[in-house]
Amino acid sequence: MSTRDSERTSPSPLEEPKTFRVNLTVNGTERTVDVDPRTTLLTLLRERFGLTGTKAGCHQGTCGACTVHVDGRRVLSCLTLTVSAAGAEIRTIEDLAEPDGTLHPLQRAFVEFDALQCGFCTPGQIMSAEACIREGNAESENDVREYMSGNLCRCSAYPNIVRAVRSVAESR
Ligand code: FES
Ligand code: FES
Repeated sequence: MSTRDSERTSPSPLEEPKTFRVNLTVNGTERTVDVDPRTTLLTLLRERFGLTGTKAGCHQGTCGACTVHVDGRRVLSCLTLTVSAAGAEIRTIEDLAEPDGTLHPLQRAFVEFDALQCGFCTPGQIMSAEACIREGNAESENDVREYMSGNLCRCSAYPNIVRAVRSVAESR
């Protein structure tokens, strides 16, 4: 290949990165998006879909503020690439209350037990708790502490978070 040919076929460093088309379902609605393969699910949800209930804390998998459900399982959306969630069902905190605004039992319990202060960690705590209860991993206070240990609360509302989660688990 001549130098001229190789110049013609090499991508320019200024070229836009390739995008990928991804189909997924978010809170019951089918969506199709073209994304840079580096786009995290967290960025997609917050910046493309405006679902800012999912919080961006550490961006490195240590705080749990960005917890959402992918096919019913808890995931850290800051560590999940959108392309890896292709075809999946995504559920965020915005989908937890009923369409008429009736709060989910966990949302009511967090209010009732005063399980928050600033509220920044709360969406992630609640999404984590919902899955935790469904998985049968909220059978005791120790269970809740262990299975939700990835959800940090800088306001240290932990005792009341545990009580709120247990109250809902016990009512099931
Ligand atoms: S923002 Fe994802 S774990 Fe902190
Ligand atoms: S309520 Fe403030 S970080 Fe948890």
